[in-house]
Amino acid sequence: MAERLRLVWASHPTQAAAFGEDVRAGLGAPRKTLPSKYFYDAIGSALFETITLLPEYYPTRTEAEILREYGGEIVRSLGNPIEFLELGGGSAAKTRLLIDEALRAQGDLHYAAIDVSAEALRLSARALVQTYPRLRVTAYAADYFAVLGTPDIRLEGRALALFMGSNIGNYEPPEAVRLLRSLHASLRGGDGLLVGADLKKDRETLERAYDDPTGVTAAFDKNLLARINRELGGTFDLRDFKHVAVYDEARGCVDSFLEALRAHDVLIADLALCARFLRGERIHTESSYKFTIGDIERIGAEAGFRLARTWTDAGKRFGVSLLLWE
Ligand code: AVI
Repeated sequence: MAERLRLVWASHPTQAAAFGEDVRAGLGAPRKTLPSKYFYDAIGSALFETITLLPEYYPTRTEAEILREYGGEIVRSLGNPIEFLELGGGSAAKTRLLIDEALRAQGDLHYAAIDVSAEALRLSARALVQTYPRLRVTAYAADYFAVLGTPDIRLEGRALALFMGSNIGNYEPPEAVRLLRSLHASLRGGDGLLVGADLKKDRETLERAYDDPTGVTAAFDKNLLARINRELGGTFDLRDFKHVAVYDEARGCVDSFLEALRAHDVLIADLALCARFLRGERIHTESSYKFTIGDIERIGAEAGFRLARTWTDAGKRFGVSLLLWE
């Protein structure tokens, strides 16, 4: 089994130093902000998995519905054999729907994945080779930008890159284009990119998906402050903040904030920092962009891809688009 699993650790600056510097910069800015990529420590990842089970958070189950319905068609659309290169993927639960179809179509398969969460990646890579005797896995524990477009990425045949779960929506649009461009640099003619994107819809549905009545999303958001307390010696009292989610229709984006319920100071010992909050002041914690199929076509084109086809669910809530390398 070991010979079917290759783990590649790319070198990158230590996470702890980067976290501290990003917290210092974000809380020191005139409009306070914290990068959403820091949501995903062990507690945050578990809370996110719980979010995906909430009735209000439709994207995960809707994307799975599309893959269940059209997965066979999707994996055959480039011709076979193909191999997968996935950005992120987490527990690879939805990816399994595509792996099943590819194995059915071509017998064996190479699956490569890039993820910054080294431990989660190792676990999901192991589980995949255990489940599928005809699967080979290469797992790159790295920031996407650290490996994409470099010779570290070794693809053997025709590739279908996977960027699912509307993860593209957590990037500011120019950053999303930059990411797709570096993905383009790792691919070749005949390759494809499958993008899962949450589609624009009414404000009520969107704001409920990002502020569920059970409070799981609020806990997910506040865990960022708890993480600062745990890892950087912060003194945040989570009860001093409330989670707020607002759909900005002009930008097509749900913004999440943590809003201070009273004026107070927070000390962060490891950074020798005192962050001062006014009552009602907000920390921006996440952007979750929503798309039309035209938006995906335009972003893809800016990165050198041509939109071939989009599969949607019956309610047109979510889209899975195939972009071809040009
Ligand atoms: C991971 N990402 C695509 C999720 C989203 O919908 O933006 C993260 C999330 N934030 C709150 N709920 C879910």
